[in-house]
Amino acid sequence: MPQQGNTSGLAGITAGETALSTVGKEGLDLTYRGYSIRDLAEGASFEEVVYLLLYGILPSRTELDRYKNLLLSLRDLPAALKTVLEQLPPTANPVDVLRTGCSALGTMEPEGEDRDAHAIANRLIASFPSMLLYWFHFHRSGKRIETRAEAHPTVADQFLFLLRGEAPSSLHVRALDAALVLHAEHEFNASTFTCRVIVSTLSDFYSAITGGIGALRGPLHGGADEGAMRLLERFSTPEEAEAGIRGMLEKKEKIMGFGHRVYKKGDPRAPIIKSLAKQLAAEAGDRTLFPIAERIEEMLLSEKGLYPNLDFYSAVAYHFLGIPTFLFTPLFVISRASGWAAHILEQRANNRLIRPIATYIGPAPRPFPKLDER
Ligand SMILES: CC(C)(COP(=O)(O)OP(=O)(O)OC[C@H]1O[C@@H](n2cnc3c(N)ncnc32)[C@H](O)[C@@H]1OP(=O)(O)O)[C@@H](O)C(=O)NCCC(=O)NCCS
Repeated sequence: MPQQGNTSGLAGITAGETALSTVGKEGLDLTYRGYSIRDLAEGASFEEVVYLLLYGILPSRTELDRYKNLLLSLRDLPAALKTVLEQLPPTANPVDVLRTGCSALGTMEPEGEDRDAHAIANRLIASFPSMLLYWFHFHRSGKRIETRAEAHPTVADQFLFLLRGEAPSSLHVRALDAALVLHAEHEFNASTFTCRVIVSTLSDFYSAITGGIGALRGPLHGGADEGAMRLLERFSTPEEAEAGIRGMLEKKEKIMGFGHRVYKKGDPRAPIIKSLAKQLAAEAGDRTLFPIAERIEEMLLSEKGLYPNLDFYSAVAYHFLGIPTFLFTPLFVISRASGWAAHILEQRANNRLIRPIATYIGPAPRPFPKLDER
């Protein structure tokens, strides 16, 4: 079928098939393996969603319990990886810490006959929070934390417990769990496509995930939530925000957390995360940040017809969960690793090398001058 409109950046180009998720024909919705994102965010835990993505079905209660126990058993880090994390600079970007941790683990527990793709997917999903927070605490206070946290059986619970050193409330666990569900999978986004390109060369699992992390890191993709938070923090009232955003739009600056390549009439995940952010703001007694966020949302819609994407209110929610801004994008890695892994499995199941062609815009063939003639 011929492609319509401006296809630069591969916009609107169909680049393959997937049974994992779709934004629907109109680009208005999101389903993971046919289940609506609203139903999943409300009724399924992150672990159920990971199972659905990796194994193709929703787990029964027994399967889920077994799967959670498996992930729990995979949280500990090898001593050599702890040493690597200790050697990284305290000033490192934490996304780079996960990228390096993933690559390093690939040298210690390589893919092979005794370690298949599902085993590596589960290992990475279970150990990314451990890597991140081991590095975080070691460089912040010199503490070598125990990462297994048996009393905190879900990824959301473990993450908040390891971060704070105390048990999180059930509201906080539920909010982070839903945020992880919302971030888990999103069709052929830039980082997922990167993973598929890498495994299409028959490269290994860790290389694909490492590449995916690199692609996610940029502010036009996974880094937008941190950009949104830094923007929100610049204002102390909705009126100040309105004036500031107007100035930015006049200068044609991009507002992080708004707009989307696919959703031009609103991101279906945004109202879900907004409602969670609102509950968390109310619990914290906030009268500033949430109203500022809403004013920015109103302005972007009226001035530019732009809607918030998942990142905008994720930033607000994470802020009220007490998560430092520089850990927002690593959290995205922790969740999206599940979608990447599922796409890697799917690509491998029906692989063909991904190698598009380019429209050449360089010089016509010309004579080659020898070095002394230039
Ligand atoms: C997500 C994004 C990269 C999509 O890009 P895209 O599909 O290539 O859309 P375009 O950049 O072509 O945007 C179309 C128009 O809307 C404007 N626009 C898009 N997002 C904007 C934003 N966040 N702030 C201000 N203007 C924006 C563009 O400047 C462009 O205006 P123009 O036609 O006057 O030049 C883009 O919306 C963006 O940069 N958003 C901010 C980063 C972000 O939140 N990323 C997370 C995505 S989940």
